[in-house]
Amino acid sequence: MATMVPVDVTTPLTKNEHLLRWVEKMAQLTQPARIHWVEGSEEEREQLLDEMVASGTLIRLNQKLWPGCYLARSDKGDVARVEDRTFICSLSKDSAGPTNNWVNPYEMRRKLRDLFRNSMNGRTMYVLPFSMGPVGSAMSQIGVQLTDSPYVVVNMRIMTRIGLPVFKEIDKDYKRVVPCLHSVGMPLRAGDKDVPWPCNKEKYIVHFPESREIWSYGSGYGGNALLGKKCFALRIASNMARDEGWMAEHMLILGVEDQSGQKTYVAAAFPSACGKTNFAMMVPPEAFKGWKLTTVGDDIAWITPDANGQLRAINPEAGFFGVAPGTSTSTNPNAMATLASNAIFTNVALTPEGGVWWEGMTAEPPAECIDWQGNLWTPELGRKTGAKAAHPNARFTAPARQCPTIDPAWEDPNGVPISAIIFGGRRAHTLPLIYQAFNWSSGVYVGATMGSETTAAAAGEIGKVRRDPMAMLPFCGYHMGDYFRHWIKMQRSLSVTPRIFHVNWFRKGADGQFLWPGFRDNFRILKWVVDRVHGRTRGKETPIGWTPFYKDVDWSGLSFPVEKFEELQKVDRVAWKREVIDHEELFILLHAHLPPELVYERELLICRL
Ligand code: OXD
Ligand code: MN
Repeated sequence: MATMVPVDVTTPLTKNEHLLRWVEKMAQLTQPARIHWVEGSEEEREQLLDEMVASGTLIRLNQKLWPGCYLARSDKGDVARVEDRTFICSLSKDSAGPTNNWVNPYEMRRKLRDLFRNSMNGRTMYVLPFSMGPVGSAMSQIGVQLTDSPYVVVNMRIMTRIGLPVFKEIDKDYKRVVPCLHSVGMPLRAGDKDVPWPCNKEKYIVHFPESREIWSYGSGYGGNALLGKKCFALRIASNMARDEGWMAEHMLILGVEDQSGQKTYVAAAFPSACGKTNFAMMVPPEAFKGWKLTTVGDDIAWITPDANGQLRAINPEAGFFGVAPGTSTSTNPNAMATLASNAIFTNVALTPEGGVWWEGMTAEPPAECIDWQGNLWTPELGRKTGAKAAHPNARFTAPARQCPTIDPAWEDPNGVPISAIIFGGRRAHTLPLIYQAFNWSSGVYVGATMGSETTAAAAGEIGKVRRDPMAMLPFCGYHMGDYFRHWIKMQRSLSVTPRIFHVNWFRKGADGQFLWPGFRDNFRILKWVVDRVHGRTRGKETPIGWTPFYKDVDWSGLSFPVEKFEELQKVDRVAWKREVIDHEELFILLHAHLPPELVYERELLICRL
């Protein structure tokens, strides 16, 4: 094996010895043809985009209709996060816990060194510094991703803060840097012809929690490749947070402003396919004049107690990586406005005008378009074969600052104060529309036992409840039982504990129909949450927690019969006893690390039932 470091290198943009040495070592291992230190300028972005248009990786959309927008089509085997190829390689298996894949870290390092050896041959290795959170904020963290994918560079440029200001930060403070190595795993040797979406059938998404490292091989897609997001901001950050007394959560952050201008911030965790991005950008119903909803983030929250014991949150990301299908001007006008320019679309359909389309974007599909795999698609063909124009997991990458509801404080280095936490899931039965946990530890129990029914979107039995604690099942970088313990312990650093709620927009009546209209009407429930936070409304005590009286929900502009509301809110003791027995499955799995508080909470719940 040749161990030359490539000669074609742009000027290194740091003086940090550790970083320089690591880049050199990784270049020796992966043997790229060039090294490009990413400065993050506009010219650099344009150059990368031009190169990718020339190579066929990107299609430039009609710039009159979609200014600054591009389309990428992935390999058809590289379309989503790969949970079964995701590993938490802690020193002991016990630290990773039963909900994560674990491989002995020494063995995994050997495997990775073999995979990465010469993996960047013929390609450029980009040295991409990024800040999760506003550059310079005490709540932010820095990473450097070495990647052979220019697609990753232009997406990370939207999703995080990148380039010179981040190098400056690294040099200034000798701040901790999380090393992230990424290769699509398709080296180019002399004479090889490149493909628009290079990747490898063999995929490894690997985290080393103790040394805070990420190694990702074989995929160019989303959470597998944009390493700031799930890998860093959740799996590695959850480890940092536990050790340092803060929280890295799979939560949106929104603000509710009432008519007097009083602002209340709420964080909320929902499993996938429960409308998280829609909730984060919701438009209040017409009748709520003077009320405003603002968006801080749609996916991840880093939450820290301040000196006064108040939890404050930042959105570590700078963009949205949203699911396109189902997004429209009626379901989420604010997302549509956000993605109207400077967006990168992946695996959506291309219209004859050079625009994009996906299922659910308009009531009428276009007469024809090119589907996500590059083939002609017509509505008739779709009807006959069931083929979709856009992949169900097709995405848009769009800058958060373009969101019409973006909160004025979304980049505040001190974050925003969190007054309430909402957990939610998709449940046809048993769980009421809304209830409030009695206190912090019963709220932790609510989050720890939350579940969601599997939908037709995923393989397997439909309607089966999958437990997804705090929506962190695929994202918690250590033992889930220790994670619950960390949640319980956090209360000690708080002088004001946020109120904890659970919502379920998806309860069905005896006729199998949804009982709740959802979408904008969810704002009515959010308003009750805010009222509870400020002690402006009473709650009705039930065995599971506090629920609203009918008259305390603001029904302006909606006629919703009291009987239907009672059905929606019903706490059925028999069904709840079954529900609590179901909780046992997870508790048995985690029992050795389960904090005693959760066992007591379960006993208390059983007694109340
Ligand atoms: C996401 C996810 O992409 O949760 O945000 O899978
Ligand atoms: Mn997510």
